[in-house]
Amino acid sequence: MNRYIWCLVFVCYTISGWGQSLQDEKIVADATEQLRYLVEYTEQLVQDSTRVSPRTLENGELELVRRGDWTSGFYPGILWQMFDLTRDEQWKDWAQTATARIEREKENGRTHDMGFKVYNSFGKGYQLTGDSHYREVIVHAAKTLSSRFNPTVGCIRSWDHNADKWQFPVIIDNMLNLELLFATTKLTGDSTYYQMAVSHAGKTLENHFRKDGGSYHVVDYDPKTGEVKHRHTHQGHAHESTWARGQAWAIYGFTMCYRETGEERFLKKALALFSWLSERLPEDGVAYWDFDVPTIPKEPRDASAAAVMASALYELDYLVPHKPALRELADRIMTSLTDSYRNEKGTSSGFLLGHSTGSKPHHSEVDVPLIYADYYYLEALLRKNGKF
Ligand code: GLY
Repeated sequence: MNRYIWCLVFVCYTISGWGQSLQDEKIVADATEQLRYLVEYTEQLVQDSTRVSPRTLENGELELVRRGDWTSGFYPGILWQMFDLTRDEQWKDWAQTATARIEREKENGRTHDMGFKVYNSFGKGYQLTGDSHYREVIVHAAKTLSSRFNPTVGCIRSWDHNADKWQFPVIIDNMLNLELLFATTKLTGDSTYYQMAVSHAGKTLENHFRKDGGSYHVVDYDPKTGEVKHRHTHQGHAHESTWARGQAWAIYGFTMCYRETGEERFLKKALALFSWLSERLPEDGVAYWDFDVPTIPKEPRDASAAAVMASALYELDYLVPHKPALRELADRIMTSLTDSYRNEKGTSSGFLLGHSTGSKPHHSEVDVPLIYADYYYLEALLRKNGKF
């Protein structure tokens, strides 16, 4: 072939995205190898434990959590994602086993984290298998979650702890639990769940953001009047700073709400958050744990926030045509995570990404792997390749 034909082949290759998908196949192959370690370690440890799912590394050792922990659904979710990516039945078997281990959470009305736990596990399983038992668990869980909705406030209560500080705390993270409610209305035809989700998102839109576009972590309401009492942080640097993962939950949540409702106000917020991130993210696209810590760049990053942002941006790009900057930012984040934040294969008990930050103010989980970083990284990879 002469060099003009080679040149044409190269241009077609680049424009068509073939190069991209080949690169992603390598990522899937690496993840397959690495996550087998995670499964091996986890399944050994759960034999003699009441703990069911891996969360992080503590002093280099794999830390498992009980089913009530907010992160317990990410491990089964990852196994479903691997089944989706590879179509290898082994992942499906592992996913079914890990999903079954957390089923009783459908009855746990003491927390708002139902979507994180049940939708990312049973929801994914239902999407991939159509198993009617999974459908029942989703509906049961949504019913339990709805018991935390206060019609005067118009929101689902997030936490019961720190009752001396907050009466009815709602955290920005709670936006993610709304997907379970939207799904349940679609499954049952009962619009109550949809209405609760829209009400919660609307109140969050009204009350969770500063004029500069940064989000508050915790908004505390008076449960009798619905009035806002406090705007605080819990995991961020300061009440008036923007906690990176909070901003990630926000763009993810409003993108999802736009997908489910078609409401312009949610799209407008998601796009405003995109513009905010475009201006504020560091060069490699991976946020420091809080955007406003004065000691940046001598601060740890949060790869988990980056993975959530990338996944949200791929969805926003899918929903909003003719705005290539959305995908460009998502790609920038994914390239950085892949090239510079992945653990060496065979290390870190099988976690894919390092360098996440759970809660710096509590000196907890700083610059470590976190299971939800891996979950959203894989979700971003699926979405990047058109799988929603
Ligand atoms: N949802 C808890 C967190 O993001 O740390």
